[in-house]
Amino acid sequence: MSAEIFNKVNQVLEDIKTEAPKSLDELEQFRIKYLGSKNIIKPLMGEIRNIANEQKREFGQLINKVKQTAEQKFQELKASAESASENAAAQSLDWSAPAEPMPLGSRHPISIMMNRIIEIFGRIGFTVAEEREIEDDWHNFTAMNTPADHPARDMQDTFYVRGVENMLLRTHTSSVQARTMTTQKPPIRIIAPGRVYRNETISARSHCQFHQVEGLYIDEGVSFADMKQTLLYFAREMYGPQTEIRLRPSYFPFTEPSAEMDVYWGLKDETDYRITKGTGWLEILGCGMVDPQVLENCGIDPDKYSGFAFGMGIERQAMLKYRINDIRYLFENDVRLMQQFSSAI
Ligand code: PHE
Repeated sequence: MSAEIFNKVNQVLEDIKTEAPKSLDELEQFRIKYLGSKNIIKPLMGEIRNIANEQKREFGQLINKVKQTAEQKFQELKASAESASENAAAQSLDWSAPAEPMPLGSRHPISIMMNRIIEIFGRIGFTVAEEREIEDDWHNFTAMNTPADHPARDMQDTFYVRGVENMLLRTHTSSVQARTMTTQKPPIRIIAPGRVYRNETISARSHCQFHQVEGLYIDEGVSFADMKQTLLYFAREMYGPQTEIRLRPSYFPFTEPSAEMDVYWGLKDETDYRITKGTGWLEILGCGMVDPQVLENCGIDPDKYSGFAFGMGIERQAMLKYRINDIRYLFENDVRLMQQFSSAI
């Protein structure tokens, strides 16, 4: 009796070893047959009661061996089936197929404008100077010929840092002029891009933060004509070779004489008419010869050196160029707006 049962179990063991499932279906059949909830090994286990006592131990070990062999074989077959199907998938890849389109990021219109301006001035020898946005009163105002009681301070409503004396958010990038002049010797030729802050009510046309690019050129014998030529070059590079400019007398505490520069924008349509208030001319920057007092404040000899400076707002130009009619869009970073610049550099 015992021998017969032993034979049966040994036969199952042999069967397991010779089984060779050729498909995933057959592998599943193998699993059900030997490892499933109604597998054929289970009833064999029950036979233990018909085994002579002294052979029960040996029988138990044999049954265990059968179970382990089935389990091991199944795992091996499964692993090789999986790697085979991965290979097949890899072979079915078409390496010559065009790649999935990858959406390009986009630059912010302000960055596009700034980079363009930096590049234009870079070509005539201006290098970029960057400085802090939290400034002291001296660099932002006093050095720039705007002492505490100067009425021109009212031109720029200032955010002061609460609890820290004489510290403020810079109201213009002219503070970079002061920092450069006090630390470098002429010739100085810098362009200062950056963010500035003014305590203004936020509306479609103005914001409490915006960007400026400022330029400063100091050397021996720099004249107003040099400034005019430099700015004409800039305007034509920026707005096209036919661009005309005009300089109107103006006032800034740190330049003398001072001017504002308009470019001729033309009156092609109703929007141009509105933007330029019906004249076709549009103001884009302030400029002037650096006031000798400013040079002196910053430790540069005004008898030896002269220079010019200019400063322009970026938002305004970006709004014009891209026809964005509300400055607030430029600070909200809504992807629907930003995506429209994905091909621009
Ligand atoms: N700092 C001036 C402003 O913010 C612009 C300016 C810069 C004017 C340099 C003249 C020279 O309005």
